[in-house]
Amino acid sequence: MLLDVRDLHVEFHTREGVAKAVNGVNYRVDAGETLAVLGESGSGKSVTAQAVMGILDMPPGRITRGQVLFEGRDLLKLKEDERRRVRGAEMAMIFQDALSSLNPVLTVGDQLAEMFTVHRGMSRKDARARAVELMDRVRIPAAGQRVKQYPHQFSGGMRQRIMIAMAMALEPKLIIADEPTTALDVTVQAQVMDLLAELQREYRMGLILITHDLGVVADVADRIAVMYAGRIVETAPVHDLYKAPAHPYTRGLLDSVPRLDHKGRELYAIKGLPPSLLHIPSGCPFHPRCPMVRDVCRTDVPPLYEVTGAPAGRGSACHFWRECLHG
Ligand SMILES: Nc1ncnc2c1ncn2[C@@H]1O[C@H](COP(=O)(O)OP(=O)(O)OP(=O)(O)O)[C@@H](O)[C@H]1O
Ligand code: SF4
Ligand SMILES: [Mg+2]
Repeated sequence: MLLDVRDLHVEFHTREGVAKAVNGVNYRVDAGETLAVLGESGSGKSVTAQAVMGILDMPPGRITRGQVLFEGRDLLKLKEDERRRVRGAEMAMIFQDALSSLNPVLTVGDQLAEMFTVHRGMSRKDARARAVELMDRVRIPAAGQRVKQYPHQFSGGMRQRIMIAMAMALEPKLIIADEPTTALDVTVQAQVMDLLAELQREYRMGLILITHDLGVVADVADRIAVMYAGRIVETAPVHDLYKAPAHPYTRGLLDSVPRLDHKGRELYAIKGLPPSLLHIPSGCPFHPRCPMVRDVCRTDVPPLYEVTGAPAGRGSACHFWRECLHG
């Protein structure tokens, strides 16, 4: 197992109170596997990813419980300098907005080359050559010339390729991509996603793909984890989940998309709004919006039940998952 996140809890101390952003997340990613993380805005997808990467803003954030096991080592117990080494060389993150993640006053080539001079102790000349190779690898045309340009001189799609190149530079074992294509237009989205999926396969990396786009999920992910109010409410192999969801929230997400093979569609809101993280509803946090709600849902928090009779590793945090699955 490459990454095993166990019972992770993150809170934010704000003036209005304590926002419980992540409330016992469990997920696992194997080498060569793509896990898609899906859920409405504010469900804790990014905060979970930041805690795994060790880039959470602390304060106001605080990890109050849990483990982040990376090849069996708990990253939450490492000293900051060890943590930084793991982050640089073994795991990397790709963000939605390349322009704000890249340094505007350094050329793209210098930023790529720096990965090799700092982490690999290469000479500037060799590092520069590696930078051009990498730009070629992510299919940036005329890489030899464009290596001297600044981030703002690239289109959105090309900048996203540079981000991918930066993330790939040290051949990490795990990449977390947080809405990597959301800011791009649809055709460019598909190209960038294809490139990422191709590199992931080639290098057998683990990939956590945070996305709103169900079309992307169906194309590239192996497994899916659906988040709601800082919890995983359903997890399953992608095709099983699409065939028959075992949680009413997942069902709502799928039903709100007319065609799953339609690219670029966003999730549509289910009736009502996601809960305030300052006041998460009692019992099942989805109960105020759930079409299947019963009395027990208002009082008893559903654990992530193992969905039996399904391929191994399906889980649903619904007391009535059986009815949902077969209904
Ligand atoms: N720096 C912060 N300070 C205070 N609260 C924060 C901070 N970052 C995140 N939060 C809280 O954590 C919640 C979850 O945020 P997160 O960014 O993980 O959502 P998300 O699922 O990634 O949503 P989106 O789809 O919009 O990116 C937010 O609604 C917010 O209440
Ligand atoms: S536990 Fe109850 S409220 Fe929650 S999703 Fe299941 S049926 Fe709906
Ligand atoms: Mg986010």
